[in-house]
Amino acid sequence: MSDTNDIFVSFSNADKDKVEEIVSVIKFFGASCWFQLRDSKQHFIEEINKGINNSKNFVVFLSNSSCSSLMVRNEIARAISKQKKISNYSIIPVVLDDLSDENQEIIELFLGSLNWLYADKFVDFESLVLAIFEQANITPENDESSQSSYSTEKEVEKIRLQAQNRYFNACCETYLSEIFAKYDNPMILDIGCNNGDNIIMRTADRQYGFILGVDCNAEAVQEANTLYGDDKHAFIQCDVLSDKFLGNVFTQMRRYNIIGFDIIHISAVLLHLGKIDELLKNLHILLNEGGTVFIQDEDDGVNLVYPHSKFFDDCFYIWEHSKESGDRKMGRKIPLCLKNAGFKNIRLLSSSVSSNDFDGKYREELWDLYFNSELWATDNASYFDNYEAFDLLKGVTQKHKEMKEDYMNGKYFILLGIFFYSATKN
Ligand SMILES: C[S@@+](CC[C@H](N)C(=O)[O-])C[C@H]1O[C@@H](n2cnc3c(N)ncnc32)[C@H](O)[C@@H]1O
Repeated sequence: MSDTNDIFVSFSNADKDKVEEIVSVIKFFGASCWFQLRDSKQHFIEEINKGINNSKNFVVFLSNSSCSSLMVRNEIARAISKQKKISNYSIIPVVLDDLSDENQEIIELFLGSLNWLYADKFVDFESLVLAIFEQANITPENDESSQSSYSTEKEVEKIRLQAQNRYFNACCETYLSEIFAKYDNPMILDIGCNNGDNIIMRTADRQYGFILGVDCNAEAVQEANTLYGDDKHAFIQCDVLSDKFLGNVFTQMRRYNIIGFDIIHISAVLLHLGKIDELLKNLHILLNEGGTVFIQDEDDGVNLVYPHSKFFDDCFYIWEHSKESGDRKMGRKIPLCLKNAGFKNIRLLSSSVSSNDFDGKYREELWDLYFNSELWATDNASYFDNYEAFDLLKGVTQKHKEMKEDYMNGKYFILLGIFFYSATKN
């Protein structure tokens, strides 16, 4: 075992089976753990202290058994004293069982101010571990739920995407005109092109040399090629996070005599990828000197509705916890990632859209793209990362029609965090 670990695991032997399972998921997602069964000789105080000192985070599994264990209480006390000295050291309490009132009170004395995770609120251990990682600021490896969580298989998602694109195309029209004006017949790369509809709509009536679209969804790419493929448009199937991405794009560049791209377009994709640093570095390579990357992505931190209604809070909560809706805080992360990848002139062109934009012309689109209860029409709780989101669904579905009517009659103002960025290569 290496001296330093991502997580020190504090628990009671009585919960060993459950904790062992969770630890195996933690390891699968690429984090290392200090995890010792209590019957091991390593339970001696010095070993434990060393384990806590050499771990970057502390996760304590709370049950009636662990809360009454002196060993666990001692570990918590050590972790708290370490946290006083190291500000980014996270202590994460994970509740495994209903705690007795007495245990709850005692443990709250130590950990009351922290954000507790309740294991039974998560639909599976993967979702629980991802929540632990988020608190500990650990980026998961092998996280398929964030890498390819998005699916347009449902007809309703196709309709949602069309509504989104009609509306957002109007929002980015001026930005795209400014960008296109900089180049003669630009070469365009569209990342996460889906069936090509969006990039074709956004480039209609504009001059360009070639559009290459990339998407991991084979069916969507096939549709794109059937609809739009010709000597100026090609679409390839490739996971943009895979090692093959650059090589596959270079092959197409040779095939179509493209030296580099002038414009790279990425709409509603980064939030579905989890890690974007490597991709942005690759895109920096593919861009010509002076070329521009244009990004549209989401950030729910900006969302607001007036007047306040629980219905909208519930909808936002459901979005946040649906496994297909990606990283709802992606918008704010993009500037730093662009900078780290070497981009210059990073501009936030706009950070929201609202129900009043364009004199309310796209009011219904705004509703359909975000509050259409059929989007989540599912009997399957594992579509979400916790049960609460699944439970809220029923109420939202019931109220949806009435709320839409009120909204369409102008009774609500809605603003959504949709970020538009541009950045250049030198
Ligand atoms: C919300 S859709 C946006 C589609 C299109 N850009 C638009 O704005 O209409 C996200 C797209 O990203 C694609 N995608 C997700 N993860 C991907 C990956 N790792 N590699 C390539 N494409 C990916 C999905 O297949 C999907 O087509």
